[in-house]
Amino acid sequence: MGKPVTTPCRVAPSLLACDLSRVGEEVASVVAAGADLIHFDVMDGVFVPNLTFGPGLCAAVRRLTNLPLDVHLMVADPGPLLEPFAAAGADRIAVHLETVVHLHRTLEHIRSLGMAPGVAINPATSLASLEEIWPWADFILIMSVNPGFGGQRFINSVLDKITRVHALRRRAAPAVELEVDGGVDLGNASDLRRAGVDILVAGTAVFGAPDRRQAVALLKGELT
Ligand code: DX5
Ligand code: ZN
Repeated sequence: MGKPVTTPCRVAPSLLACDLSRVGEEVASVVAAGADLIHFDVMDGVFVPNLTFGPGLCAAVRRLTNLPLDVHLMVADPGPLLEPFAAAGADRIAVHLETVVHLHRTLEHIRSLGMAPGVAINPATSLASLEEIWPWADFILIMSVNPGFGGQRFINSVLDKITRVHALRRRAAPAVELEVDGGVDLGNASDLRRAGVDILVAGTAVFGAPDRRQAVALLKGELT
């Protein structure tokens, strides 16, 4: 009956899927397409089996756009990278719950550097761990693939997990944002919006689209 639910949400294209030989044009292209943030995937070859980029490229991207830079640290030891990313102009940093022993200290450190602290959780990580974290984080980054590579298939059972996180968030900390990362595409975006997601990270679905503006609008639910 009638139109589908089109709860608005924001879209964060992941630079992992861009053509790095033309990074300036690629950033300009997704800014023009209506991106709300730029997602920046940092991998160390230890926590995940891949290596990507660091604060140097982040600083270069900072010079290309005023959009918030959303840094996702997939590294075994995020502590030493916090200040370099703050200096590089990052606005938000997510650290993986699976990597940090003193999470409260780490999130406070991120906040003290003027950035929004986030907690990323792998598909296999239980939501029970979030119980204590709500007051400390500005956002939760729910992984819908095992981190390490772009272009992977969305793990369908994560949709139910997102619904449960949304219910917990509504009760415990309504201001905390929910962001989903991995395998997000035009086929699952409306389900994700309905499940309460605030920010969709999308690499392949934006950079691989023939019309990036249309892809961003469809992901956001602005077009049906
Ligand atoms: C996976 C990364 C994601 C990934 C998203 O480890 O954290 O940000 O690049 O790419 P797609 O949308 O292609 O799954
Ligand atoms: Zn990511």
